[in-house]
Amino acid sequence: MRHLLSLFDLQQDEYESILSIAVQVKKLLLDGSRPSFLPRQVTGLLFEKPSLRTRVSFETGMSQLGGASLFLGQEVGWQSRESTADFIRVLSEYVDYVVCRSKLHTTVEELASFNCVPIINGLTDHTHPCQALADMLTMMEQHESIRGKQVTFVGDGNNVSRSLAHACARSGMRFRLLGPEAYFMVDGSLEKLEASYADCDLQQTEDREAAMAEADFVYTDVWTSMGQENESERRLKDFADYQLNAALMQLAPDHCQVLHCLPAKRGEEITDEVIDCPSSLIVRQAGNRMHAQKGLLLWLALQHGRLTPGCLESAGIELR
Ligand code: CP
Ligand code: NVA
Repeated sequence: MRHLLSLFDLQQDEYESILSIAVQVKKLLLDGSRPSFLPRQVTGLLFEKPSLRTRVSFETGMSQLGGASLFLGQEVGWQSRESTADFIRVLSEYVDYVVCRSKLHTTVEELASFNCVPIINGLTDHTHPCQALADMLTMMEQHESIRGKQVTFVGDGNNVSRSLAHACARSGMRFRLLGPEAYFMVDGSLEKLEASYADCDLQQTEDREAAMAEADFVYTDVWTSMGQENESERRLKDFADYQLNAALMQLAPDHCQVLHCLPAKRGEEITDEVIDCPSSLIVRQAGNRMHAQKGLLLWLALQHGRLTPGCLESAGIELR
């Protein structure tokens, strides 16, 4: 059974295939076509934290593919009424895929360990792979090739930047994390990527000029992630010099474009002026969550024999 807990769960050709399917289903949609590739298939959304983009983009994406989804909040009694084993085994009798947003990454790992239904990580404290797929799709739309381009992430080594660094390594992009050293990724994530992708170029720095000078994209995220609220006061002070504002943008080339996974705390990590500037891609990026995840769902359906390649090909989708 295939799961997507992190981008390490995909081979390179599989990662490229998901993005390629995503690009093509997006084009079909924009051309007015919504083929029912997954009729009557159902996704369960198991969320421990709030969400707009992840929840709604999976729900609408699934609908557009002819399937359905169920949002499962705390009232289903997950982690309280019965054992995780009983819970996920029973859920897998009803739904074809589970998207889980959990506080701890170990929770999605535990769900996947029962191997009874494909588990998709919809954000944990460690990674946010669905966000990274949409980020890549967004950047791919801006250039004929993103290989060799640079994304500078201004902020901390968190779930979003960790998955972004991984996607950059996979796509041949340079990745720079710009922020206070105390918030660098120190869990070995970058070293693991360097060991896995021979030519990757991933660096962390406090040097604003060095990080911004060659940025083709600049990306930021909230300084205080969900679950870190008790650190918020300290983080406000620690990140004060790393706000994405007009002065920081001045250090980047003129063509540099702005990304943010959203939700944003306007006036903290990013100013209105930057988030609303003409080179901001944030709304397109959020929209691409749905297209990227449709690519992922279709790829997972192919892996599990719930969709035939011929079905996609008859709609004009080329499979790599
Ligand atoms: N970017 C993102 O995951 O947004 P939500 O928290 O609204 O799902
Ligand atoms: N780093 C943020 C991302 C939200 C999409 C968080 O975990 O809250």
